Amino acid sequence: MLINEFKAHFNKSLIDIYPLNEVNSFFRILTDHYFKWAPTFSVLNPDHRLTTTESKQLSAALLDLKKHKPVQYITQEAFFYNRSFYVDENVMIPRPETEEFINWVLEDSSDIGTQLRVLDIGTGSGCIPITLAKEQNNFIIDALDISTRALEVAKKNAQRHKAEINFFKADIRESISWPYPQDIMISNPPYIEPDEKNKMLPNVLEYEPHLALFTPHNHPLFYYYKIIELSYTFLKPGGCLYLEINPDHATALTTLIKANHFDCIEIRNDIFGKKRMLKALKF
Ligand SMILES: C[S@@+](CC[C@H](N)C(=O)[O-])C[C@H]1O[C@@H](n2cnc3c(N)ncnc32)[C@H](O)[C@@H]1O
Repeated sequence: MLINEFKAHFNKSLIDIYPLNEVNSFFRILTDHYFKWAPTFSVLNPDHRLTTTESKQLSAALLDLKKHKPVQYITQEAFFYNRSFYVDENVMIPRPETEEFINWVLEDSSDIGTQLRVLDIGTGSGCIPITLAKEQNNFIIDALDISTRALEVAKKNAQRHKAEINFFKADIRESISWPYPQDIMISNPPYIEPDEKNKMLPNVLEYEPHLALFTPHNHPLFYYYKIIELSYTFLKPGGCLYLEINPDHATALTTLIKANHFDCIEIRNDIFGKKRMLKALKF
């Protein structure tokens, strides 16, 4: 089959499921990932005849896309802060909002002269600690997650990027004794209420790990409570807490944080104008 014939079939098969710009973007991502084709390759070479391997790979990916599988799980690659991360269904796909969140931490620490100890809670793919380690030499970084499989992915990514991170398996619902007082604690914890499932797209709901997404029923701030509890012993006085947050619960979370030895609370919006991140200083 010629490439332009396949592209027409690809578009026709997906157009009822995804917007056209997304369909085009899938094709570019797949052909770049599998064959290293430039984005213009199929336009400049419409008569290129697909080899058997090319055809098999693209057809298999098309089947997965029709089943709503995220393209990042198909290619096992997601980009975060311009770096390539291995991802599979054991970890949440890193989001652009989290890049903005991390940018805040990096901005605040741009002129620090001393080493700071940083802990990432619920590290998933490891995108947060690895990015911090690559962008800021003065951080000593610890990261924890409850999921052994997520930690395997995070370690693989740390090796890929030659980032030195101390990884720990820990469940923040339990009491944890922690050897290192932290200067900074960061977390993008699960913050979606199970009741929101009916508003979610199948590519998220059916493929991303529910352990990474959902809070317990009727307890949207559950993981924030746990993180605040940990901060009593984990975080030094004067230390800084950064949280990615559910915009719907920003006010309730601010009240909770204020009541728990934190001051100078600041909330920032994401690019969509939603209250998405919070910073607070421990006193
Ligand atoms: C929203 S994901 C964030 C992943 C990654 N930090 C990111 O921003 O892309 C939340 C992470 O918290 C982890 N997690 C869930 N419950 C946990 C618990 N009780 N203790 C520690 N980690 C937990 C999940 O396995 C998941 O990796």
